[in-house]
Amino acid sequence: MSIKISPSLLSANFGNLERDIQIINESEADYLHIDIMDGVFVPNISFGFPVLKYVKELSTKPLDVHLMITEPMKFLNEVKDLGTEIMNVHYEATPHLNRAIDQIKTSGMRAGITLNPATPISLLEEIISDVDMVLIMSVNPGFGGQKFIDNSISKCERLKELILKKGSNALIEVDGGINLETGRKMKNAGADILVAGNYIFKSPDPIQTIKQFKQI
Ligand code: DX5
Ligand code: ZN
Repeated sequence: MSIKISPSLLSANFGNLERDIQIINESEADYLHIDIMDGVFVPNISFGFPVLKYVKELSTKPLDVHLMITEPMKFLNEVKDLGTEIMNVHYEATPHLNRAIDQIKTSGMRAGITLNPATPISLLEEIISDVDMVLIMSVNPGFGGQKFIDNSISKCERLKELILKKGSNALIEVDGGINLETGRKMKNAGADILVAGNYIFKSPDPIQTIKQFKQI
């Protein structure tokens, strides 16, 4: 199965979002990755639902929403109203994960759990069979353009082992510092979906860059 690509809108030009979303629409990207930040869970603020309402209208790609906020489940309905396909909540921000996963799935979205770089895979033992996706952060969340953390490769391999051991259908998504080289390493380690912000939007030809990602 070819790797799936989820370009991160965080690295787009916010003064010209319509143009940048059209570029992704015309590309071979599989999703559009949306980073929502609150300035509390992470040291940065991105965009909120009033802006995303227009993103939803413009994007023809399914939305992959990554919530970097302290109480993600408070916004279940707003995320659902965007027509979101994948709702990713952070392990570190969600005390009642079992209930959260159930609520996300019941509302018709696919449920993802995101792990910060320091959060171990072993914490997923009891929940891995219930989730649709695990998002491994390969940088500390909050900003685009950071350096890939090498430990993410073995972390991805250990997650893949756990998924196979438990007979889970969960897909593995990785986010942060992904370029063609780190993307290839993560694919070899078992990743199914690559998120990339800077490497796509700051490249001279994002459509071509996405094509290259699809071929790794
Ligand atoms: C970081 C975000 C990422 C970010 C990735 O907190 O979750 O999605 O946009 O950006 P790059 O690919 O530039 O590291
Ligand atoms: Zn993200």
